[in-house]
Amino acid sequence: MNTDLLVVGSGFFGLTIAERAARELGLKVTVIDRRPHLGGNAYSEDEPETRIEVHRYGAHLFHTSNERVWEYVNRFTRFTDYVHRVYTRHNGEVYPMPINLGTINQFFRSAHGPDAARDLIREQAGELAGTDPQNLNDKGIQLIGRPLYEAFIKHYTAKQWQTDPSDLPAEVISRLPVRYTYDNRYFNDTHEGLPVDGYTAWLERMADHPNIEVRLDSDFFDESQPYSKSNTVGQVPVVYTGPVDRYFDFSEGHLSWRTLDFEREVLPTGDFQGTSVMNYPDADVPFTRIHEFRHFHPERQYPADRTVIMREYSRFAETGDEPYYPVNTAADRERLLAYREESKREKNVLFGGRLGTYKYLDMHMAIGSALSMFENRLQPFLRGTASLT
Ligand code: FAD
Ligand code: NA
Repeated sequence: MNTDLLVVGSGFFGLTIAERAARELGLKVTVIDRRPHLGGNAYSEDEPETRIEVHRYGAHLFHTSNERVWEYVNRFTRFTDYVHRVYTRHNGEVYPMPINLGTINQFFRSAHGPDAARDLIREQAGELAGTDPQNLNDKGIQLIGRPLYEAFIKHYTAKQWQTDPSDLPAEVISRLPVRYTYDNRYFNDTHEGLPVDGYTAWLERMADHPNIEVRLDSDFFDESQPYSKSNTVGQVPVVYTGPVDRYFDFSEGHLSWRTLDFEREVLPTGDFQGTSVMNYPDADVPFTRIHEFRHFHPERQYPADRTVIMREYSRFAETGDEPYYPVNTAADRERLLAYREESKREKNVLFGGRLGTYKYLDMHMAIGSALSMFENRLQPFLRGTASLT
């Protein structure tokens, strides 16, 4: 095998490992991906008719407070000064999100200051005071009161889970942030922005090293492929970022995921909704939100008479669907523990990334966790000073 390290999956986790091993240790790294493009879910492409950059697997906003990650990602791209904001369209009116003083005053037709708004929400949340929330509805009411919960959260959550919130466990929501200021900046992190020349250019620069070979359309479980599981495990160290249950042939059962369906459309107008993301929290609209990609890059020269929108629908993933968000039921957690035990016994294979650990990871978390794995586990092993498992 003419490689020192095999990385399965070319998302941010896999590419960070590959980049570090090639640049820091001078190793020959092979990265395989079963998709026809690199980059995992952060991949983006220009819509052919308008050249507007579209995030194929859902809108991706970069943000981090981790200085180490921020320094690292700036080696591969510069960032714009884009600041993310989300609005929500309820009963024919548009409100700012997350719920803040502006949302509250618009909803209640009031002009409360922070203290009065706090008192109002506390009083409304008191409806179920002292009771143990039996389901997600009760929990939501306890957190922000019935009126705001039913307007902005209840049906949105029902659409995300395709389940009536009275049948969802209370733990699905641990907190519902309410801001008692007019600040509707979506993220609180120190650093935020979008890659100046797009996600794919950034991802390609990470892989751009003479010691890194990326092989697309290559499934680790395809035996006819030179870098398949049976051809590599035991021969060469492997960092695996695909689904952990698939690696073990679902021996402990399937881990459950939610998936998304995207409906992309080019519209004959220069601006459809005036902002990048609009939520649709009402029951009579089947989608959860609409993305309008031109608004992610107001600094670019995009056509004045056309725009690209993408409606997002959410549902439980079935066989063959892209896994997006872990459902994380009690059964899932039990299976995950069993898979973790099996992973530890798997010599010379490290499991990482959102699929390999069954964990939702933002991009900065996937990168941060790959940097740690490289330093703490892979580097000592590859330098011959420690074993891998
Ligand atoms: P992935 O990007 O999923 O990469 C895994 C790769 O492994 C894939 O390319 C896959 O094809 C490959 N693979 C799987 N199985 C095999 C196999 N058998 N053989 C070969 N290759 C295989 N993060 C943010 O920071 N901000 C956001 O706004 C944001 N929005 C998101 C929106 C959505 C809808 C989703 C789903 C995620 C979002 N994320 C966001 C998270 C971001 O996508 C992840 O942090 C990132 O994708 C994690 O990288 P990864 O390498 O772990 O996984
Ligand atoms: Na292992």
